[in-house]
Amino acid sequence: MNEVIVELEERSYPIFVGNGLLKTIDGLIGEHLAGRSVCIVTDSNLKERFLPDVERSLSRCARAVHRCVFPAGEASKRLSTIEAICREAVRAGLDRNSVFVALGGGVCGDMTGFAASVYMRGTRFIQIPTSLLAMVDSSVGGKTGVDLPEGKNLVGAFFQPEAVVIDTAFLETLPKRELSCGYAELIKTAVILDETLFAFLEADAGALLPHPAPAQTIEAVSRCCTLKAGVVAADEKESSQRAILNYGHTFGHAIEAVTGYTKVEHGEAVAIGMSVAARLAVSLGFISRETAERQDALLRAFALPVTVPEGCSAEAVLQAMGADKKNSNGKLKLILPERIGKAGIHTDVPREMILNAIRERSAQ
Ligand code: GLY
Repeated sequence: MNEVIVELEERSYPIFVGNGLLKTIDGLIGEHLAGRSVCIVTDSNLKERFLPDVERSLSRCARAVHRCVFPAGEASKRLSTIEAICREAVRAGLDRNSVFVALGGGVCGDMTGFAASVYMRGTRFIQIPTSLLAMVDSSVGGKTGVDLPEGKNLVGAFFQPEAVVIDTAFLETLPKRELSCGYAELIKTAVILDETLFAFLEADAGALLPHPAPAQTIEAVSRCCTLKAGVVAADEKESSQRAILNYGHTFGHAIEAVTGYTKVEHGEAVAIGMSVAARLAVSLGFISRETAERQDALLRAFALPVTVPEGCSAEAVLQAMGADKKNSNGKLKLILPERIGKAGIHTDVPREMILNAIRERSAQ
């Protein structure tokens, strides 16, 4: 097992990464639960598969263990589900010293964290991510929240968990497409922060997909969490450098919006967004065409798309990018690679160059 610490002074917390950790979870987080009531929040898909084992383990140390199950899917990520979680917690008798445990993917973690941040003006929570995307990105760093009809993640809070328990055995049950989407975030982190992780992913793609080998998976996930933890420790609330974690996301969110959230998964949209951003970096002279192609080859090795889907015009994508909350003061904020392992934040890229980069990566 590996342990990574997110250093945030008195709010520092551990991320445990290993295969089969669920069996010994009480040993890892028992001290956070002893004598407290716990509410495990999970979705309808995971209820049968994983909830009974987690309930059994946590019962060994908590005073009482309750459950709150919401319908699986992004459509649940709304304020009414936060109200439902909080009301369930009140009925179960949870108080300010109780602990919410998120057992699930990104939607579950974001909502459970947000519920914990507002329940009785703030209680505590622990993340047990079950998807690769949640393990390497959304469960680490304290971004919590829900969607509004007007857009994704528009209401939320920065609220850090007390611990994150990553059991890579969950990945053995994931469909290949979902696993690929998680790798989009790993490749993103490598491109912006770490050429060594990038080279590791290039060399070990065959061991990571479609069947994740435990040793290589633990290595890749721990490395990615260490890198993300470093960024979060330096800029928790995204006032500057944390924004580089949004590499590929500004283009990606726009592509998701233009295609109505039905054609491409989030991770796939991020992969396409990275491919567009890299072409833009080539035209601005930041990286060579070979570097952009090296990135795209790795994305393809993890079965990710690198072309903008048909029917998604460059103008529509650029317009949707303008609505992204990651912009600042009305200026489009773009994260662009400067080499494999380094990226920068840019706000003055000419509109015509952005349009050309999208067109260059559009399906012919
Ligand atoms: N997912 C980007 C971040 O946590 O900042």
